[in-house]
Amino acid sequence: MTPLLLAIETSCDESAVACISQDGSIIGQQLHSQVQEHRQYGGVVPELATREHVKHLPGLVDRFLAAQKIAPQDISAVAATRGPGLASSLLVGWTFSKALAWALKIPLYGINHMEGHLLSPFAGQNIRPGLALIVSGGHTMIVKIRGLNDYSVLGRTRDDAAGEAFDKVAKLIGLPYPGGPAIEEAAKNGNGQRFQLPRSLPHEGDFSFSGLKTAVRYLWEKLSPQDQADVAASFQEAVVDALVSKAFRWCKDESCELLMVSGGVSCNERLRNRLQEEGVRQGVEVLLAPKALTTDNAAMIGLAGWYRMQAGFDAAGWQDDVDPNLGWS
Ligand code: KG4
Ligand code: ZN
Repeated sequence: MTPLLLAIETSCDESAVACISQDGSIIGQQLHSQVQEHRQYGGVVPELATREHVKHLPGLVDRFLAAQKIAPQDISAVAATRGPGLASSLLVGWTFSKALAWALKIPLYGINHMEGHLLSPFAGQNIRPGLALIVSGGHTMIVKIRGLNDYSVLGRTRDDAAGEAFDKVAKLIGLPYPGGPAIEEAAKNGNGQRFQLPRSLPHEGDFSFSGLKTAVRYLWEKLSPQDQADVAASFQEAVVDALVSKAFRWCKDESCELLMVSGGVSCNERLRNRLQEEGVRQGVEVLLAPKALTTDNAAMIGLAGWYRMQAGFDAAGWQDDVDPNLGWS
């Protein structure tokens, strides 16, 4: 068996494990979602998330290794999310990974969750310079990629992240958590042109979604449940418009011909289609994260670890701890 990299992700409400081979291909990945546990509260409850990770992560990893027929001695390195995320959720996966790496006497790579999202469109292929749009539940940002570990954040949201806006608006109009998939589903039966919701585009190149959320609140007060699909579709149009127009404006400003898109919101089909169409129109190559790597997963953490290992980056020290506010470095 060639040496394998095992990856663990527990930054929020998914316990996830994956395995990456020596050539950067994903051998497999498995996930335990806590969506059902958090749904009754309308969002992620950190204390509950931690308990669920403690309860499910060890069994998940055992079952994954058994299903993949991977023996402990086949694993040559571990990569785990060190931040950003919920402190106590991160701690479960990080401590588990540290113990595993220590016991097997193999290196442990501490991965920035955002770098996992950022590099996921490359999916093990060579990293190329360009601009990246990351749209998740916690972040919405435009990042310039020059190469591995050489990134600058050019723009970000001034208030809510795009995914957060989907989650909050879904709750407002009576759709379940997580809001993104629920709004996308409801929007299929709705008219996205019925309500002209504001596309707020702050001029410096940042994003803003809280005004849109407030506009939906006032609109919804005057409507009834049968308007739900039209509101969902109109809201989705407004978010997609804002993301697409801003991302391509950045490409133009930076003379960039490659746009990478990743994060949970990037599994939205309307957004994917609009980005591809606009890419063709503007002569920009659009590289979308494969759908299986859009929402939180361990494969993207493993890939980031694999790139780092290949490039000869140092593994984490045993004294390194989680960092809920981990930035780029
Ligand atoms: O990347 P992710 O799994 O977690 C974070 O790192 O935050 O993103 C989760 C976010 C949630 O806000 C969820 O509502 C959103 O991604 N999302 C979607 C869709 N699927 C998930 N948003 C829009 N359309 C979707 N189909
Ligand atoms: Zn994420």
